[in-house]
Amino acid sequence: MSDPQPSPRSVIAPALDLARIPSHIAIIMDGNGRWAAARGLPRAAGHRTGLDAVRRTIEGCREYGVRVLTLYAFSTENWRRPAGEVEALMRLLGEALIDEFDDLMEAGVQFRMSGELHSLEPALREQVEQVIALTRDNKTLVLNVAYNYGGRAEIIDAVRRLGRDLASGRLTPQTIDEAALGRYLYTAGLPDPDLLIRTGGEQRISNFLLWQIAYTELYFCDVYWPDFDRSHLLAAIADYQQRRRRFGGVEDA
Ligand code: FPP
Repeated sequence: MSDPQPSPRSVIAPALDLARIPSHIAIIMDGNGRWAAARGLPRAAGHRTGLDAVRRTIEGCREYGVRVLTLYAFSTENWRRPAGEVEALMRLLGEALIDEFDDLMEAGVQFRMSGELHSLEPALREQVEQVIALTRDNKTLVLNVAYNYGGRAEIIDAVRRLGRDLASGRLTPQTIDEAALGRYLYTAGLPDPDLLIRTGGEQRISNFLLWQIAYTELYFCDVYWPDFDRSHLLAAIADYQQRRRRFGGVEDA
């Protein structure tokens, strides 16, 4: 009898240690505009094609047992972009929530949003709130979309609400520690990212998850986000698995 066929996973994937898959991957999806410009297309076409990369990444994360995927889809600074592009990005989120809803449910994906929901257009905000509520009990993967998100704004917002609880006596100064502050962040209840990927060749953080990435492993790659596929995701995880995480202490023997 011939040898059993290798599984598709072992043929195309780098050898990953399935016991050391990052629990939480965060991604700065950069390069949509350049991808579009290189093809003579409007920037919005880059964002739209970027949605295919989002789908591939969700699939890859589910397949390998990643528990949380945080995607930086719209920053508080992105409002400065031309009105047409901002509108296209808003429309894309609304459409994606409708088009992908059945697949998210079937795949057991819980949808969350990190960011300032209140300044979104009311219909979009309602749609986001509905999808959050309807997917709340899904357990396979948390898809946390950072939308209208800024890291400093998040910390200020947290401190403001914490201050209110101090003033009302619900909190005392002695009980404020890292975990306490963490409960006021948009990411309350989620583990900090183990791995942060930025596509598009730039090597900066751009006001993303400033509090949460204190000990996160950083991975930068040149590929433009619309071209990001399973092989890029697995290469990032493989690279992460080469790192020795010390969290400020000494390496395990
Ligand atoms: C950065 O590329 C990308 C964005 C600002 C938007 C990302 C949005 C998507 C991929 C689609 C929406 C996703 C969801 C989850 C609804 P850039 O425009 O700054 O590219 P550039 O640096 O080449 O100009």
